[in-house]
Amino acid sequence: MIAAYSAASQARVNAALETLFNPPSPELARLYEAMRYSVMNGGKRVRPLLAYAACEALGGKAEQANGAACAVELIHAYSLVHDDLPAMDDDDLRRGQPTTHKKFDEACAILAGDGLQSLAFSALLDPRLSASDAETRLQMVSALALAAGPAGMVGGQAIDLGSVGLKLDQKALEYMHRHKTGALIEVSVKLGALASGHAEKDELKSLQSYAQAIGLAFQVQDDILDVESDTATLGKRQGADIARDKPTYPALLGLDAAKAYALELRDQALHALRPFDAAAEPLRDLARYIVDRRN
Ligand code: IPE
Ligand code: IPE
Ligand code: MG
Ligand code: MG
Ligand code: MG
Repeated sequence: MIAAYSAASQARVNAALETLFNPPSPELARLYEAMRYSVMNGGKRVRPLLAYAACEALGGKAEQANGAACAVELIHAYSLVHDDLPAMDDDDLRRGQPTTHKKFDEACAILAGDGLQSLAFSALLDPRLSASDAETRLQMVSALALAAGPAGMVGGQAIDLGSVGLKLDQKALEYMHRHKTGALIEVSVKLGALASGHAEKDELKSLQSYAQAIGLAFQVQDDILDVESDTATLGKRQGADIARDKPTYPALLGLDAAKAYALELRDQALHALRPFDAAAEPLRDLARYIVDRRN
């Protein structure tokens, strides 16, 4: 079921994203090409899937979340372009292809990331992509800005880079993961829920608990895969965290305890969805997928 749901959702978000990279003038062809390259290069599209699934869990139609789905994937793509830069993780392979700064150059990759970030907010407000009312849009923009910014993803990345070679305790590691990866996953669920047009307070709260659990689980699994997957399957260099002495869950707890923790977080996420009916099945499947995935 998750395979069919993923394929349909990926096709939907890819079609919407595809419309966003037309350069307004020939001088900007290379910049737009770098942005397109950084987004339309595969990727599991987990964050858009979460936005669609949250919208549907609340009785909305998936299409209503197109703006949200594009926005979270654009922020994610920008975060990856910058994460791979020499000044950050210095990686040369992403989604099975050269990283953006390898394919283009560093300055172009920095600007492509900057451009993708702005484009995310434009997508969220684009009336062709979704029809939410003005108040809902304002709530969405504010939530995305908070999640992507210094109190969210950017803050988590700052902690990550400041922690290389240090031995973080579990509390500090969790704080870092909840920011660098959890924040954007959480807001993907929130934006999808808001896009449904009928998100009640209690439902938003349950969805937030769900999203907090899978957001952390997602990065724990990412850390696990760095240890036990392989470069071809991952589409990025296996062992990169170990090589760079990054603080990770397997490094702190050991591989088995990290896996057990990921499963515990999955169960917390499923527990949080108890008030929801069968419409939340895709969200349940996604929680299972996040800790079972091999790439
Ligand atoms: C990788 O994210 C970076 C993290 C935040 C852990 P994904 O595993 O979602 O990467 P893509 O989008 O599928 O390439
Ligand atoms: C990336 O974490 C988190 C963000 C890009 C915000 P990682 O550095 O672990 O991601 P990968 O492993 O390079 O995909
Ligand atoms: Mg990183
Ligand atoms: Mg990285
Ligand atoms: Mg990683």
